[in-house]
Amino acid sequence: MERVFLIDTDTASDDAVALIMALRAPDVRVEAITVVAGNVPLEQAVRNALYTVELCGEAIPVYPGATAPLRRPLQNAEFFHGKDGLGNQGYPTPTLTAEPRDAVDAILETTERFPGLTLVTLGPLTNIARALERDPLLPDRVGRLVIMGGVACTVGNITPAAEFNLWVDPEASRTVFDARFKTELVGWELSRWEATLTHDEMAMVKAFDTPLAHFAIDCNATAVQASQRQTGDPGLDLPDPVAMAVALDPTICTRRSRHHAMIEADSELTRGMVVIDQLGVSGEPYNQAVWGDRAGQDPWVEVCWAIDVPAFKTLLFDTLRNG
Ligand code: RIB
Ligand code: CA
Repeated sequence: MERVFLIDTDTASDDAVALIMALRAPDVRVEAITVVAGNVPLEQAVRNALYTVELCGEAIPVYPGATAPLRRPLQNAEFFHGKDGLGNQGYPTPTLTAEPRDAVDAILETTERFPGLTLVTLGPLTNIARALERDPLLPDRVGRLVIMGGVACTVGNITPAAEFNLWVDPEASRTVFDARFKTELVGWELSRWEATLTHDEMAMVKAFDTPLAHFAIDCNATAVQASQRQTGDPGLDLPDPVAMAVALDPTICTRRSRHHAMIEADSELTRGMVVIDQLGVSGEPYNQAVWGDRAGQDPWVEVCWAIDVPAFKTLLFDTLRNG
């Protein structure tokens, strides 16, 4: 049975690869793509999304969303993805154009039309938080909310405590995590170490010699340099494609458990940090001031702790080989 996906993205180089994976998935219909400022300013992210959709020969509607976080100035990741977000490769202007409607309208209307759809977020959660402010019943219409964000341990790629997507707009992140979505958290750490694409694997993908294979590697040219400076990991980390792989095939997440989780939004030291109640203590009376009335609630954030790396890479490589 065909599954309906709605993807929210701050389209830079790893987002673009994740979009290709969804657009090429045989049993998935991407009903809409909503764009949020994050890696790059909104206009550039919209352009990158349109370029990627066009490269796949599709005509999926792309809706512009928030130009900045709810209550903070935007801090982008051009240092990582390049000024254009796609490795400064000078890709041409897409001929496709964005929809005139706002991303929030698209999120609310699409979930009305396709209740139970899978919502995959690849960027800051500003659009989702704005949609929740408009319609608090949104979580009831979302079958799965798969968030690329956070880390399920205290490490960060933008601060020592936080991952970029949840750090950019921590107020929005808190709003979304406090809402009772059926949330699946795919943390940045899952894209590291053996999940990175080695240089041999990147050369293998280039040798597929398909337009999508060349694009997927070339547009990550600055990201691979930045990634190795940042982590020293052996190759290119692709957090959004990891999250998309879990969205496309839930079995790729090999270890998951459900917990209460909250986002820090007040302290600059831990801004955007995901605090996961692994031992189930948030319901204790001494935690009520912070964690509220979660004591009698079943936790709703499902944390992915491990992925099947070979299965992730097979899905990615098959997509690009056939592209
Ligand atoms: O921290 C990695 C995340 O931030 C990825 O989604 C990347 O595209 C950026 O949005
Ligand atoms: Ca992203």
